[in-house]
This record gives sequence, C-alpha cells and structure tokens, in this order.
Amino acid sequence: MQIMTHQCQNIMKNLLKRLYNYRLLFLATIILAGSGLTYWIINRPSGIDEAARQAGELLARNGRDNIPPCVACHGANGEGNFDAGFPRLAGLHPGYIAKQLQDFARDPMQTGVKLEPIARDYSKTPRIYSDLTVFTPGTRKDATMNAIAKALTPTDIQNLAVYFGSLPFEATPQAVDFQTLERGADLALRGKPEYGMPSCISCHGPDGRGFGPHFPPLAGQPPQYIINQINKWQTGERDNDNLALMQNIANQLTDGDKLNAAAYFSNRSLSVKRK
Ligand code: HEC
Ligand code: HEC
Repeated sequence: MQIMTHQCQNIMKNLLKRLYNYRLLFLATIILAGSGLTYWIINRPSGIDEAARQAGELLARNGRDNIPPCVACHGANGEGNFDAGFPRLAGLHPGYIAKQLQDFARDPMQTGVKLEPIARDYSKTPRIYSDLTVFTPGTRKDATMNAIAKALTPTDIQNLAVYFGSLPFEATPQAVDFQTLERGADLALRGKPEYGMPSCISCHGPDGRGFGPHFPPLAGQPPQYIINQINKWQTGERDNDNLALMQNIANQLTDGDKLNAAAYFSNRSLSVKRK
C-alpha cells in the first residue's frame, strides 16, 4: 500500500514537471483561443440577407421609374434631414420600417369595420354587435410617402427595410435651453402619473433608443418630425399604432408638451452600430 502511494506520488510529480515544461505552450494555446474567440465575436456573420441589402441599397440610392431615390429626402446614409423634419431611417428595426411602408401604402377605405361571414344557420337572425369584427390594420396619411409606398412591391419593401435597418447611426446632442430640457425630461422619464399617462421611455426605451420592432426610437429623430407625428395622431391622419397605444398618449399632450419632449430627445446621444 505504501509503495502504491509512493508510486502515485511519483507519477503525479512527473506529470506536474512535464506540464511545467510545457507551460509556455499551454499559455500560448489559451491566448490564441481567446483572441480567436474575440475575433469571432467582433466579426461574426451578422445574419443579414446580403442580396436583399444590396437590392435595397440600389433602390434607395437610384430609385426606379416613378419611385424617387429615398436618399434624396432621408439623407445619403439614412440619417434624415433635421431642418426639413424628414425622419432618419438608419438603424431603425427592419420590422418597423416594413410596417410603416405597408401602412403608407394602404388605402384608408380598406380599414374600418369588416363584417364577418355569418354562419348559415343564423342567416335570418338580426345582426348584432358580436357579429362584427373590428378590423383596423391602420393607415398613415402623407402625400409624398403614400404615393411612394404604393409603387413599391412587397419584395422592395423587404429589401429597403433590410438596407436601412443595417445602417449605422450617430446622433449629436442638440443644445436645448435648461427649462425646456427639464420639462421634456419630466415628460420623458416620468410621464403624467396624475393622469395615468406612462413616461415616453417606458415604451420607447431608455434615452428613447427604441425597443424591438414595435417601439421606434425617438432619439436622433428631428424635433419637427416628432411634433408632426404627434399632431397627426391628434388629427387622425396617423392611425396605425397597435392597440392605439400611441394615440392615447398623443391625445394627452399639449402643444408645449410636444415641443419639450421633442427637444429632450434631440438632446440625447445615440450610437447605432452597422449590422
Ligand atoms: C420627397 C421626400 C421623400 C422621399 C423621396 C422619400 N421619403 Fe420617406 N418620408 C418622407 C417624409 C416627409 C416622411 C414623414 C411622413 C409623415 O409625416 O408621416 C417620410 C417617412 C418615411 C418612413 C416612416 C419613418 C418612421 O420613423 O416612421 C419610412 C419608413 C420611409 N419614409 C421610407 C422611405 C423609403 C424606403 C423611400 C424610398 C423608396 C422614401 N421614404 C422616400 C419623405 C420622403
Ligand atoms: C404605451 C406605450 C407608449 C408610450 C408611453 C409612448 N409611446 Fe410613442 N409610440 C408608441 C408606439 C407603439 C409607436 C409606434 C406606432 C406604429 O407602430 O407606427 C409610437 C410612435 C411614436 C412616434 C413616431 C415615431 C416614428 O418614427 O414615426 C413618436 C414621435 C412618439 N411615439 C412620441 C412619443 C412621446 C413624445 C411619448 C411621451 C410623451 C411617447 N411616444 C410615449 C407607444 C408609446
């Protein structure tokens, strides 16, 4: 027994000695594996459909027949036009971009109350409210974008969404006077709890960075665009938000609120990486 243990100890000692001799190799392996992993994390394939991205870029830059180049209004890199109040498209979620183009293309007459087919047995019974399905896919009214979106095919829409969604974006915070910023921050971060109105960031994400396909970013959008959109909700020209989530907010905002919130979000910095 004693001998066995002794032998064991010797084997262990030899092993450790050998490992010690190979310590450089061992370290080198770890460093190589580590840097390989880091390289892969930084350069891993993005999962972007490259053919769609290229087709989208071509259409966005050159237009086609009666489709003007998107970049003419939305900026050479989809950054938008601050002075004109044209929205940025760079780095928006492709699902959001595609939905907006579908909503612009939809004829307002296609929305509203749709009758459900009535089961044969009940064809003689009077129509009651429960026979109706309220079907509101939603529309967005804008003379320019309505015409452009109607001319796009479903494939164009997918390609453009992939292209603009893949673009990087950098927002430079705009100077805003202190009182406007304070009021805007109050609305953005706190909402109006006394009226049951949640804060903007509870849906639009911290700093208005946006969240998933349904909650678009507000940071980096021209203040005039933000104000225009809230106005359009108030007049019913924009009526495409799921569950009227944004309409209910818009209806509680005063003209001052719109200015303050828009100014607050123009003061945020934002950096979206190329995908
Ligand atoms: C002549 C100027 C002009 C051109 C060209 C143009 N747009 Fe627009 N786009 C606008 C304006 C203005 C709005 C804001 C409309 C509104 O108030 O609802 C807008 C809004 C949008 C929006 C909604 C953005 C958001 O945040 O909800 C998308 C998406 C969009 N455009 C995509 C495109 C694409 C894709 C093209 C090219 C095929 C294009 N636009 C060409 C002016 C233009
Ligand atoms: C309860 C959730 C919710 C809250 C809170 C909310 N929003 Fe929204 N907002 C939405 C949704 C959803 C949309 C996208 C609608 C769609 O699908 O077109 C939206 C869209 C918008 C847009 C249009 C963005 C674009 O790219 O076209 C603006 C501007 C906006 N919100 C401003 C605000 C402001 C300012 C506040 C705070 C005062 C606010 N929102 C609070 C849900 C919310």
